Amino acid sequence: MDVRSEVNKHFKFTLEHVDKHCGARAGYIDTPHGRIHTPVFMPVGTHGAIKALQPKELIDLSIEIMLSNTYHLHLTPGSELIAKAGGLHKFMGWDRPILTDSGGFQVFSLQKNSITEEGANFKGAKGENVLLTPEISILVQQNLGSDIMMAFDECIPYPATEKYVENSIARTHRWLDRCVDAWTNPRQALFGIVQGGVYDKYRKICIEEVTKRNLPGYAIGGVSVGEGPEHMEKVVKHTAPLMPKDKPRYVMGVGMPEDLLMIWENGVDMSDCIIPTKFARGGTLFTNRGKIRIEHKNYRRDFFPIEPNLKDYVNTNFTRAYIKHLFDSNEILGQILATAHNISFYKSMAVRAREAILEDRFLEFKASFLDGYKRD
Ligand code: GUN
Repeated sequence: MDVRSEVNKHFKFTLEHVDKHCGARAGYIDTPHGRIHTPVFMPVGTHGAIKALQPKELIDLSIEIMLSNTYHLHLTPGSELIAKAGGLHKFMGWDRPILTDSGGFQVFSLQKNSITEEGANFKGAKGENVLLTPEISILVQQNLGSDIMMAFDECIPYPATEKYVENSIARTHRWLDRCVDAWTNPRQALFGIVQGGVYDKYRKICIEEVTKRNLPGYAIGGVSVGEGPEHMEKVVKHTAPLMPKDKPRYVMGVGMPEDLLMIWENGVDMSDCIIPTKFARGGTLFTNRGKIRIEHKNYRRDFFPIEPNLKDYVNTNFTRAYIKHLFDSNEILGQILATAHNISFYKSMAVRAREAILEDRFLEFKASFLDGYKRD
């Protein structure tokens, strides 16, 4: 059985509309755990949980997919245990789609390690040596049972020389073939990852190489690694339009609201980032006028919602003054409400963008959003 022909029975991307005035796309992805409307922002649940939120709260916010990490779940509690529990969906009580990252990025970003042709060596929690290879990454992701698995790649750091990039992408492509060979479950879609650093030439080579493998979707990796917003925009502008039109395009690890508008304008369908959840726990909340630091004294007597235009649970029932008080008092509810708010804000951006794309007014939506939104 060729898993690549079988996967199309379980995983299908439909491109509904491309905005007439830019590259922005609206569509949907059907998976074994339900439909994902695009463009979509995926909240990150590294250890199989969105920090501070229950799955039912994500459902209330109409979140259609979340991300989890191979690296962390491989270390604790181990994917065999999760397979015994019936897979990650069952283990964590979430029956909507899950995307798992391959572990490569986490290995490279979290520890100094040695990368070999075989894979990446790193130290586990107790100092033990752990090896992550393309085969192990796919085995773990298949034990987890995610709807979308990511190929095992090297996320190239910034800056990197052309020579470094050339060697690294060649290895990432050999690793991709090993991932494809290890992939046996057609209910799980494998996405390839385009690397190439900030070099147009290498991004193009990667697209040609990765798309030869005829996979259900493709990602742009190696952005938001310290290259700065201008380089990031240049890479996305150059790379996204060269990717197949009939497959989902995913930018990994991005980002701030203004970054989402940029990637959507350039025809990207999916993205993920820890920013909304991490910022929320630190008291930084997103509004249509920009970010606010809820602990600031200005909010002590502010009896308005965080974002009056959002009609969700948090913004209907709680004031800035109350949430500031919760943070000041170190009440865990502060982080819970802040996280629900930021996830809701990102979701509402994606919903508004999708509506605008379907009516060919994405650029107006972007301009009017940025007009009111103060960046720092
Ligand atoms: N998350 C953010 N960037 C990357 C990347 O380049 N590769 C992988 N696997 N995950 C990422």
